[in-house]
Amino acid sequence: MIQRKFLWKIFFITSLFAVIPLLAFVFISDIKPNLLLLLSVIIISLIIVFTALSILLGPVDVIKSGAERYTQGDYSAKIFPPKEKHLKSIAESLNTMAKQLDERLDIIGEQSNLQQAVLESMKEGVLAVDYEERILMLNKTAERILDIASIDAKGRTLQEVVRISEIQKFFKKLLSEGSPQEAEIILQHDRDKFLQLSGTLLYDVDNKALGALVVLNDISNLKHLDTIKKDLVANVSHELKTPVTTIKGFIETLKEGAIDDPKNAERFLNIVSKHIDRLNLLIDDLLTLSRLEEMDEEVQLEDEEIKPLLQSVVEDYDFIAGEKKITLNVKCDDNIFARTNRHLIEQAIGNLLDNAIKYSDKKSKVEVGAFEQDGMLNIYVEDEGYGIDPEHISRLFERFYRIDKGRSREEGGTGLGLAIVKHIVNVLGGNIEVESQPGKGSVFTIKIPKN
Ligand SMILES: Nc1ncnc2c1ncn2[C@@H]1O[C@H](COP(=O)(O)OP(=O)(O)OP(=O)(O)O)[C@@H](O)[C@H]1O
Ligand SMILES: [Mg+2]
Repeated sequence: MIQRKFLWKIFFITSLFAVIPLLAFVFISDIKPNLLLLLSVIIISLIIVFTALSILLGPVDVIKSGAERYTQGDYSAKIFPPKEKHLKSIAESLNTMAKQLDERLDIIGEQSNLQQAVLESMKEGVLAVDYEERILMLNKTAERILDIASIDAKGRTLQEVVRISEIQKFFKKLLSEGSPQEAEIILQHDRDKFLQLSGTLLYDVDNKALGALVVLNDISNLKHLDTIKKDLVANVSHELKTPVTTIKGFIETLKEGAIDDPKNAERFLNIVSKHIDRLNLLIDDLLTLSRLEEMDEEVQLEDEEIKPLLQSVVEDYDFIAGEKKITLNVKCDDNIFARTNRHLIEQAIGNLLDNAIKYSDKKSKVEVGAFEQDGMLNIYVEDEGYGIDPEHISRLFERFYRIDKGRSREEGGTGLGLAIVKHIVNVLGGNIEVESQPGKGSVFTIKIPKN
């Protein structure tokens, strides 16, 4: 320590001044003291000098080590103020300075924590760069949206980190023009990802521009919903168009004279009536879907015994199954109960049963069953029908999705049955699974919470 070295220097010099005159005096004078006594005097005087210096410089040492602690950022322990007036005021000043620094650092720390928390909680991505396009900061959402990790990003250039050319161009334009910019981009590598960018220049407290700040908004879901809505309108219009055109055509034919030919008139009216039924069915299904969408969690639940519930749905389909000589079978233990909504679950099983009968050959078998597993009620509908190719499985539950449009339409299908089932299962807090083998048959299993 410098302090100690300094002490030794002073000690050495002071010793020289104390001992040399003494020795000189002894040699010059006639006094011949005992050597031992002389040595004792020298040692004692050295001890006195050393102790005096230690006492004098000790407090300086204390202040110095305290100041060193402060420079290392440790403001917890105060410097004990020495008795000596000047040193005491130095120690007190240092203590006050440390206290103020500590308080200011606390405030700065709190503010920066708060700012960090705000940034990290934002559902929008935030990305800031300087004029060299070096990344100053980015939050977690930005990392997620842009698929980058913060450790890699900070201090590196935008070009190195964000390889999306549209974003690079956006920053360039923002930095060169200086005016706020807005843009919507589709990511090239991920066509399903839509980003909304909104950028301004970044200013410091003295209003000096530091770089640019961009807020990124992932609007893929909104865009997706938009597409779904557009598709739905297009699909509904398409589905309505066929029966309406047919009805209109036959009415024109009747008006033009066919009405006077009773045999043909009846046939035409039957066709008209069939298409009106189809329109009705379509409207009913669309209404059911929109009601289910509004329902969410408000659905009423009651304790239901499952076996009689399955039997009652199967009874409803006995007639149409009978027409194709399809055997319907119920497999369910007695006393299985679940807290559910009877009307919704009946509708879902009904739609599955309807499909199982529609998409199966004559004289085949369909089984409707239920069992409990891991606290969930599993209800399945198994057929030996045409089966479904794996490529179609993921799209089966979309509205108006039909594998064989001709066959489905022939059967009077609107392509909304499974979309309704999916919605019902969602409303009941469950999920639906499909296993199918083309040419062998399919099993649709609804899993809903028992309680
Ligand atoms: N059990 C099944 N076996 C084979 N294919 C099926 C089965 N269930 C559904 N599909 C296929 O999935 C498509 C969608 O079924 P969905 O029930 O949604 O509509 P749909 O039966 O055509 O009409 P809707 O049920 O509205 O009257 C059907 O057109 C059919 O191609
Ligand atoms: Mg169906």
